Amino acid sequence: MIVLKSQEEIEKMARPCRIVAEVLESLREVVSAGITTREIESFADSRIRSLGGRSAFKGYRGYPASICVSVNEQVVHGIPSSRRLLEGDLVSVDVGVVLDGFYGDAAVTIPVGDVSREDARLLKVTEESLYRGIGQAVEGNRLFDISHAIQRHVEENGFSVVRLFVGHGIGREMHEEPQIPNYGPAGQGPRLKKGMTLAIEPMVNAGTFEVKVLQDGWTAVTLDNRKSAHFEHTIAVTDSGPIILTKVG
Ligand code: MF3
Ligand code: CO
Repeated sequence: MIVLKSQEEIEKMARPCRIVAEVLESLREVVSAGITTREIESFADSRIRSLGGRSAFKGYRGYPASICVSVNEQVVHGIPSSRRLLEGDLVSVDVGVVLDGFYGDAAVTIPVGDVSREDARLLKVTEESLYRGIGQAVEGNRLFDISHAIQRHVEENGFSVVRLFVGHGIGREMHEEPQIPNYGPAGQGPRLKKGMTLAIEPMVNAGTFEVKVLQDGWTAVTLDNRKSAHFEHTIAVTDSGPIILTKVG
């Protein structure tokens, strides 16, 4: 069942979402060559708390950290560690916050210093695909219109869409129905209605779409070891179109 939210509930959800956005924004300055992914986590966790929220990830199905930090060929769910970032790395940071019973979830991939032209293009196309998907999140459309718009933009640009992980409804739970694949046939799936709150999150690989999960039980990596990018927003479907909740300002 897809839970629809009232205007009031969407306003409550906007608070954890806003914290997520502010944390991601401040991480842009923190993510740099020489820092460890654990230092990034520690910065993010204090920032989440000082803004009045709590990590939605810590302890979720036993996940051991407050945020996910996935470097280069790591697609999602990278566990912060003593790994030090190098110039040229691509760092996907995924942040989830809970506040007053509502969840917010968003991710960005940040380039460390100068990255190759091809890597810069991977980031650009992935972020654009997120916005293409959000653009389809309007009343009357169907769910896979979002999926299809993402897939089309990614594949037109020669990259591939991860199948193993999908976006999701979000609200009083971090993961609610529906699942939102980043691929699929336009015109199918449930009709989008005002009050739906969705975490749309394309994961895009430079090479093959295939991924595997490492022995730690979490870290997903590309099968061909080529790079991956991930952008995510929590949005609300409204009368006047999609509203991005995980946005600063
Ligand atoms: N942002 C991720 C998602 O949308 C959640 C990370 S999984 C966790 O599914 F275990 F780290 F919480
Ligand atoms: Co998510």
